[in-house]
Amino acid sequence: MNLARLMMLPVAALVMAAPFASAQSLDFDMYRSKVEPIFLKKRPPHARCVVCHSNSNSAFRLEALPKGVKEYTPEQSRKNFANVVNLVKPGNPETSRLLIHPLTREAGGDLFHNGGRQFASQKDPDWLAIADWVKKGK
Ligand code: HEC
Repeated sequence: MNLARLMMLPVAALVMAAPFASAQSLDFDMYRSKVEPIFLKKRPPHARCVVCHSNSNSAFRLEALPKGVKEYTPEQSRKNFANVVNLVKPGNPETSRLLIHPLTREAGGDLFHNGGRQFASQKDPDWLAIADWVKKGK
């Protein structure tokens, strides 16, 4: 093996490892059982996250659910998980876009979410459930 190829190796390993770095520290089973259902359930007066985010071109993208289907297959959840982990900072809900963007501004949210002020406060049980999952990541 020549020197150039030898030097490529660690770089390739890094590039391949990077996309999984954050996903690995966040728990998939907890995501699937506690977090994902929040994206699907109706939380009046708001539209469900999935309604907009299965076909929006924002960075938060969920798999589309056919009419009448109430939950994701494990494979779909995996795809959603791979997307959602990009919107959170493991261990740090306060700086996680997934939590701050849909949160009312008065409660610490950012300027504007096209999907409305989905969470009125950081005491909202659904907000807390997502925060809990993020907190457990490292
Ligand atoms: C009525 C449609 C609608 C609903 C319902 C909705 N959103 Fe959104 N959301 C949008 C649109 C459109 C954008 C992109 C524009 C913006 O940032 O406001 C967005 C952006 C976001 C982003 C930022 C993604 C990025 O590009 O960085 C997050 C995070 C997010 N939404 C989370 C949620 C969560 C969580 C829910 C459910 C609790 C939800 N949204 C419900 C329409 C919606």
